Amino acid sequence: MSLAQILDAYSEEYWDFKNAKNNGIHKIANYPASMVAPMQHELLQLLVNNNPDYHKMLDPFHGSGVTLVEGQEIGLDVFGIDINPYAHIISLAKLEKYNPEDIQKANDVLLERIKQLRRNKKFDNHDFVNIEKWFRSDVINDLSIIRTAIRQEKCERTRHYYWLCFGEIVKKYSNTRTSTFKLHVKETDKIDKMENHIFTDFQKKIEETYALIGYPASGNFELKCGDTNLVMNSLDKESFDIICTSPPYGDNATTVTYGQFSTLQLLWIDALDFQYDDSCVDNFSRLDSLSLGGALTRNNAFYCSPILTNYIEKISPNKRKKVLQFYSDYENSFRLMVRLLRQKGRMVLTLGNRKVDGVEFPFTEINRDLAQHYGMKIEYVINRNIVHKRMPKKVSKLSDGKPVSSMTRETTFLLRKERWI
Ligand SMILES: C[S@@+](CC[C@H](N)C(=O)[O-])C[C@H]1O[C@@H](n2cnc3c(N)ncnc32)[C@H](O)[C@@H]1O
Repeated sequence: MSLAQILDAYSEEYWDFKNAKNNGIHKIANYPASMVAPMQHELLQLLVNNNPDYHKMLDPFHGSGVTLVEGQEIGLDVFGIDINPYAHIISLAKLEKYNPEDIQKANDVLLERIKQLRRNKKFDNHDFVNIEKWFRSDVINDLSIIRTAIRQEKCERTRHYYWLCFGEIVKKYSNTRTSTFKLHVKETDKIDKMENHIFTDFQKKIEETYALIGYPASGNFELKCGDTNLVMNSLDKESFDIICTSPPYGDNATTVTYGQFSTLQLLWIDALDFQYDDSCVDNFSRLDSLSLGGALTRNNAFYCSPILTNYIEKISPNKRKKVLQFYSDYENSFRLMVRLLRQKGRMVLTLGNRKVDGVEFPFTEINRDLAQHYGMKIEYVINRNIVHKRMPKKVSKLSDGKPVSSMTRETTFLLRKERWI
């Protein structure tokens, strides 16, 4: 039976995964717009069943690593790229497999070290520009104690898992609102009223996480933190059997501010323990402007989809540049993904349309066009309702102050590489 025939047997509502939750390992950290794990698992399993010669998978925008973890779980060797160091830290902790006994011992030592630091006060308060705006002074004190204790742990791999747990506690006790991914300070009374349970929460977090990160998995993994187009350009062509991803649907600054969501955590985590350039947190918007459609863009699309050209005429001139910048970066990503896929390899793309200037940006249709241009055959299309994606009701604000509604539908394209141009 062909893949399309197998997929035809599923009802459309099936793919909504109404009752599915990202449980287990996927619960260990919060990140915007995470994929639905059981759906990724099922799609990847169908591809591998259909072609047992598929071994290597790439996710060039891996986010919180849901797709990478599911790929690894079914035995694929997985390679992930993301420009956001917090996405890198989350995914690393999920993919590195830990020996539970070692972690248990390390946890006991860490908790003891925290107790001593609280007693003897031999630590320096952490500092960065405007730290008092984002954290209360008692919070700075307690987080600094935990940070010092983590830095004294000798094993780097173990520190990776602590930094992930710590990042979640940093976010919880920051003064930023939870109603948006953008950084906005809460009302003063809410900040004052916040109860400080940092030490017990951190202990709970490392214990809960410990129970989830030691599960056995078969496939190897490799992660790169950086601009996906630069990284993909450095890889050998036709080196992957499957590319499975959900790219950003627009530039981060006006779509989902993954960077702003992550910056406070990154300002506390010790970047020396990871391979990324920490200048990306020099200011709160830098990470988002380094992302697709941001400052790196050189407006060098190879093929300009006619659908885009028609769309551009419908929005106001001041919005056009941003959309074109995003498109040109994305078209480069698409071209590079095709280059990295082997002949007859499969691409699974989950896509959504957002609105710019009140007009829906037809990203899905643009991808259909790109697929045809770059020699990818669309084998199947799944349209689904987004039931559980972690998105606030209003995603972010445009420069004109108008909120952008979150996406409620998304489309998954199943593509096959037919030729190379
Ligand atoms: C929709 S999320 C990915 C969701 C993910 N597939 C999952 O399973 O959780 C998109 C990701 O693209 C990343 N991104 C944006 N621009 C990038 C770039 N130029 N290079 C690498 N990653 C980028 C963002 O940091 C974000 O994590």
